Amino acid sequence: MPLASTPRSYGGPARLFHWLTALLIVTAAALGLCATGLPTGSPEQVAAAVTAFSAHKTIGVAAFFVALARILWAVTQPRPAPLHPARRLETLAAETVHWALYGAMLVMPLSGWVKHAAQAGFAPIWGPFGQGLPFVPQSAALAQAAGAVHGLAAWVLGAAVALHVAGALKHALIDRDATLARMTHGLAAGSGAHRAGRAAPALALSIWAGVMGVAVLPGAATRPGTPTAPAPVASADIWQVQEGRLSFTVRQMGAEVTGSFADWQAQIDYTPETRAGQVTVDIALASLGLGAVTAQALGPEFLDAASHPTARFSAAIGETDGQLAATGRLELRGATMPVTLPFTLEMVDGTARMTGTTTLDRRDFGIGAGYGDEATVGFDVRVDVALTATRSSTTNN
Ligand code: HEM
Ligand code: HEM
Repeated sequence: MPLASTPRSYGGPARLFHWLTALLIVTAAALGLCATGLPTGSPEQVAAAVTAFSAHKTIGVAAFFVALARILWAVTQPRPAPLHPARRLETLAAETVHWALYGAMLVMPLSGWVKHAAQAGFAPIWGPFGQGLPFVPQSAALAQAAGAVHGLAAWVLGAAVALHVAGALKHALIDRDATLARMTHGLAAGSGAHRAGRAAPALALSIWAGVMGVAVLPGAATRPGTPTAPAPVASADIWQVQEGRLSFTVRQMGAEVTGSFADWQAQIDYTPETRAGQVTVDIALASLGLGAVTAQALGPEFLDAASHPTARFSAAIGETDGQLAATGRLELRGATMPVTLPFTLEMVDGTARMTGTTTLDRRDFGIGAGYGDEATVGFDVRVDVALTATRSSTTNN
């Protein structure tokens, strides 16, 4: 079996890489479609959906590394010339689809992986790959943008594969030429003479640039990301939240998953000199982002957002033994429980940077009552708050 490709034939590694990527990508796409449609009404169904998503992500990540190897190999090889270069439009279409497919091999897994890493997806990636990615911060807005790219790119991939397979079948059944046999059997065919132009890669690139633009830009203005500023209240010590993140982490099927709320409002009345004050936080539960199971987490078994759309934490801020804490009560899902949130506060140039963590027991709020042990969902829910706020001078009246 010749290893190298020639202008008339695909070598063994090129064909192996082609069929391996085709298999991995088609399997990942089928699993992605299937996993998003699975019901999540009972613990067994959640477990099945998590398995399907983990399989989807793991195969997708594997497809990414195989695609990288394939592309590295392809750049060292001559590309076999089309069999009918005189059919210029057909050749341009086929080559554009090939370049679009090369793009899909990178965009699909990378967008999925970034979405997963930015939101610590519900279903873990199996194996040695890890859940995070370097340079990808935890961010609901980023996860949403990457998810939009992933969803739209799936359509481009679907269309490209459909055209590609239709083309291969046309060559095999109508033209009855050796195009398909070159890829299946390594047959040498054609004159080998063809100078590939720049039009096809440029067209494919503009398709992918369009996907990114459509997926990312229109949502940018409306995407929930930072919490809304609190309503001004007449006081000298009102602080306005500039940016922040309210997230929680729970163990699910043995792996940590993190969800966050995009829409919450904090009214903070705090005097740095006395290190005392008050805080009220209202959280719109429907703004939760928890990967594939957001809807289920909002459903009656868990947060029951339809009956109790808002959670409220109201507390007094004070200092004990040098440790600042907000001590008060949390109203969530119809239950009210005492909660203490220890936090640290750093003042830099009039901006307060606050970070705090506390742990709740989901059973105190009747969350996941049907999940009586910790095998599927852990009892402890770690809540993390991080925000920056500035003292508002406009409310000094
Ligand atoms: C499953 C059905 C598929 C069939 C029957 C098929 C068939 C073929 C054939 C016959 C060629 C050679 C075309 C030529 O010599 O001009 C080819 C090339 C190619 N295929 Fe596929 N393919 C399939 C799936 C895929 C998938 C899923 C991908 C990627 C997502 C893919 C990516 C490519 C690329 C990038 C090339 C161009 C290779 C190059 O010359 O650099 N194919 N395919
Ligand atoms: C070759 C690689 C991949 C392909 C072809 C692919 C394809 C798909 C498809 C077709 C869907 C359903 C889209 C929808 O219904 O909107 C999907 C969903 C999803 N994929 Fe992938 N995927 C790939 C890789 C990955 C990877 C590597 C990850 C994460 C590590 C990932 C994470 C997800 C997630 C989280 C969803 C659910 C979408 C959502 O909740 O918004 N995918 N994928």
